[in-house]
Amino acid sequence: MYQALYRKWRPKTFSQVVGQDHITGTLQRQVAEGRTAHAYLFTGTRGTGKTTCARILAKAVNCLHPEDGAPCNQCEACRGIDSGSLLDVTELDAASNSRVDDIRELLSESVYTPTVLKKRVYIIDEVHMLSTQAFNALLKTIEEPPEHLMFILATTELHKVPATILSRCQRFTFKRILPRDMEKHLLGIAQAEQIDLTPDGAEILARMANGALRDALSLLDQCRVAQGQLDSRAVLDILGLAGSVQTVELMDCILRRDAAGALTRLDGLYRGGKDVAAMLGELGDLARDMTILKAAPDGAAALLTGIYDTKTLRSLSGSQPMRRFLYLTETLQSCCAGLGDSFQPRTDAELCLLRLCDESLSGDLTALSQRIDRLEDRVANGIPVKTVPQTAGTSPKTAPLSRDSAGTSRDVPSDDRPPMPEEPPLPAEPSRPPEPKAEEERPPLPEEPSAQEENIPPWEGGSKDRLEELIGPGSQLEHFKIK
Ligand SMILES: Nc1ncnc2c1ncn2[C@@H]1O[C@H](COP(=O)(O)OP(=O)(O)O)[C@@H](O)[C@H]1O
Ligand SMILES: [Mg+2]
Ligand SMILES: [Zn+2]
Repeated sequence: MYQALYRKWRPKTFSQVVGQDHITGTLQRQVAEGRTAHAYLFTGTRGTGKTTCARILAKAVNCLHPEDGAPCNQCEACRGIDSGSLLDVTELDAASNSRVDDIRELLSESVYTPTVLKKRVYIIDEVHMLSTQAFNALLKTIEEPPEHLMFILATTELHKVPATILSRCQRFTFKRILPRDMEKHLLGIAQAEQIDLTPDGAEILARMANGALRDALSLLDQCRVAQGQLDSRAVLDILGLAGSVQTVELMDCILRRDAAGALTRLDGLYRGGKDVAAMLGELGDLARDMTILKAAPDGAAALLTGIYDTKTLRSLSGSQPMRRFLYLTETLQSCCAGLGDSFQPRTDAELCLLRLCDESLSGDLTALSQRIDRLEDRVANGIPVKTVPQTAGTSPKTAPLSRDSAGTSRDVPSDDRPPMPEEPPLPAEPSRPPEPKAEEERPPLPEEPSAQEENIPPWEGGSKDRLEELIGPGSQLEHFKIK
């Protein structure tokens, strides 16, 4: 019968465990020096070696010929534990055995010394799933265990384990496996299994696995059925990912705000059988890479996913502002998060692309801020400012702003300045500080004073029309009334 790669390649001794040296080293030393604890708690993300290390530790403390704290894997005890034939080492999956009776049954023999081995070892996987009663039953035994007992609890959700249990265990936190460690491991296994995996193929698998070696091996299993070499292209194809080239092309369309091009590309990929979620995920990774490169142009290499070379990233990013990358990354993040329970992922993906091409469609504050940007741009480039119709009695304050070709108003020569309003003489109040000079010299903006003088809010007078004229009609203006 075919055995999955991840099971076949379960490490049998501490030194074979990848990327958890801080844990394996300590455990091995404890065994060698006879200082093992009676209860351990292994925590960390899935597929990082918790169950594996629990089994190695169970063997190590029982091995008849341990080698410097590591199991020999040859003796009766080691082989018996490996094959699961020795009842002194018991594994319980708390995910499916969470009731108090399950724990009582498991521990019913715990008071007796082990029949064959030196220590009775209980491995409880997914321990956070135990019911409260079950935890209490466990606590009684863990509190004052006999010399011959050892507990190894494993969990992915530490916060669900009661503090009473935590405080009685020695805790080890398993780290996600680093991509380069994972690549090396995958290439080694591929070679032994005669799978023609290339380094860039391994790189993609490692990236997809997100730190979980089990996932990486499962993905390799999935890919091995394919004929020929497993390079990055083949891996991406088999796993139904858009692949970096198409993702870059799609991103290019987005950055150029070519919505039609982006939609057409999406359609092509979709027809080609690519998974929509995976594709948006890739796009999200690319946006993230560009954001990081923008934030830390030097020395960001270690933070990047590694799938796109920095040259491509740089030429793709061009001179786009940081704000754009943040927007792209955030929008893709939230779209990917919502895709899980989407009725029609393809439609969601299309809407997402449209929003990415044009921030003003985003329907939130970004839309408004984008319109304001556009407005600022136009103002900076010297758009003709239309005069607000003057109502009777309005002072010449409302005179239009005179602008030179550069669009700046501050440097206007004094002769060209609009006439200052005829203000009533200041009351002779000694306490009042003199008006700052700058204030007097600055020509007033057209909208402000007229609205204020007539006591009309600026969005209700001519100004609203003015704003709308510049940034398009927008109901959202209503939400941002200037108080
Ligand atoms: N640190 C690691 N080193 C080597 N292989 C690992 C490691 N972590 C996981 N694996 C692989 O994944 C499989 C499952 O690991 P396991 O220990 O059951 O993970 P966990 O209990 O943390 O979910 C192992 O059989 C092994 O093939
Ligand atoms: Mg496990
Ligand atoms: Zn042994």
